[in-house]
Amino acid sequence: MRITITGATGLIGAGLRRHLMASGHELRCLSRKPLAQTGWFAWDTLAGGPPRESLEGSEAVIHLAGEPIAQRWSLEVKRRIRSSRAEGTAALVKSLAALPRRPSVLVSASAIGYYGDRADESLTEQALPGSDFLSEVCVEWERAAELARESGIRVVCVRIGMVLHPRGGALGQMLPIVRAGLGGPMAGGQAWLSWVHREDLMRLFTWALETSTVQGPVNAVAPGAVRNGEFMRTLGTTLHRPAFLPVPAFALRLLYGEMAGVILRSQHVIPEVAEQAGFQFSWPQLAPALQNLLG
Ligand SMILES: NC(=O)c1ccc[n+]([C@@H]2O[C@H](COP(=O)([O-])OP(=O)(O)OC[C@H]3O[C@@H](n4cnc5c(N)ncnc54)[C@H](OP(=O)(O)O)[C@@H]3O)[C@@H](O)[C@H]2O)c1
Repeated sequence: MRITITGATGLIGAGLRRHLMASGHELRCLSRKPLAQTGWFAWDTLAGGPPRESLEGSEAVIHLAGEPIAQRWSLEVKRRIRSSRAEGTAALVKSLAALPRRPSVLVSASAIGYYGDRADESLTEQALPGSDFLSEVCVEWERAAELARESGIRVVCVRIGMVLHPRGGALGQMLPIVRAGLGGPMAGGQAWLSWVHREDLMRLFTWALETSTVQGPVNAVAPGAVRNGEFMRTLGTTLHRPAFLPVPAFALRLLYGEMAGVILRSQHVIPEVAEQAGFQFSWPQLAPALQNLLG
């Protein structure tokens, strides 16, 4: 299949490129700083739609591009987080609608940030969105992607949880702290943390591309969500390090400002759509997943 990927240089995009190429797919990759190689194109989501030649003839589009979330949120950063997703996705969908031959499917990233902070509630794809900044961004992002349906394109919005990857993302940032013996339950350790092994996320994206009956939101999280305290304990055990030092909420707020809310919120997310459609997670439980990635 010929597939266009936006955000192709990111943590998820780089992994997907390898995964899809190994399965024999032909890729077109978009980035603000494209590699000087055939098949790479420049696109800044803040500056209109992608170049037409990056989309023409593609049978599928995977849309990942967006300003990184894990940074201190100044007003300008928040503006870029929102508009790189909402306006960027709207510009992409407009460009797809203008093609004489459109792709059959758009698999667009979203995030479990959609649900906001939800204590012990079990969150399937049917749950209502939260009302914080990231929830609003996710709602606008998905709404913009869903408009591609009007052009006859199947749309899947993948609500991604915390991706477990040893060299990046949230886990990559925690590793040096836990290895130094300074990790521990955050803000009391009771918040639910919904995670996904990077390999299962790659498989979920491929499954969403290839399964013509799947559309709408899909939670990309393992069935085995855990509370923060258990996550830190399991990580400590995997690394043979103590992980008992409590990290208070105020320390995280001092360090990350408003973005600390992303770490402190509680989200018990259930992958209902994927499981009911028969998707089998290779890494449904945390301890074996961490052992596989870090052991
Ligand atoms: N990783 C996670 O745990 C996680 C969880 C939930 C949701 N997600 C979402 O999934 C998507 C991919 O995640 P990731 O972890 O791979 O993100 P990432 O590592 O931060 O990469 C972001 C990608 O977006 C591109 N990008 C950023 N701003 C852009 C702009 N203005 N125009 C065009 N491209 C832009 C970057 O490419 P260049 O810098 O090369 O242009 C990069 O390829 C993101 O939208 C993210 O919010 C990720």
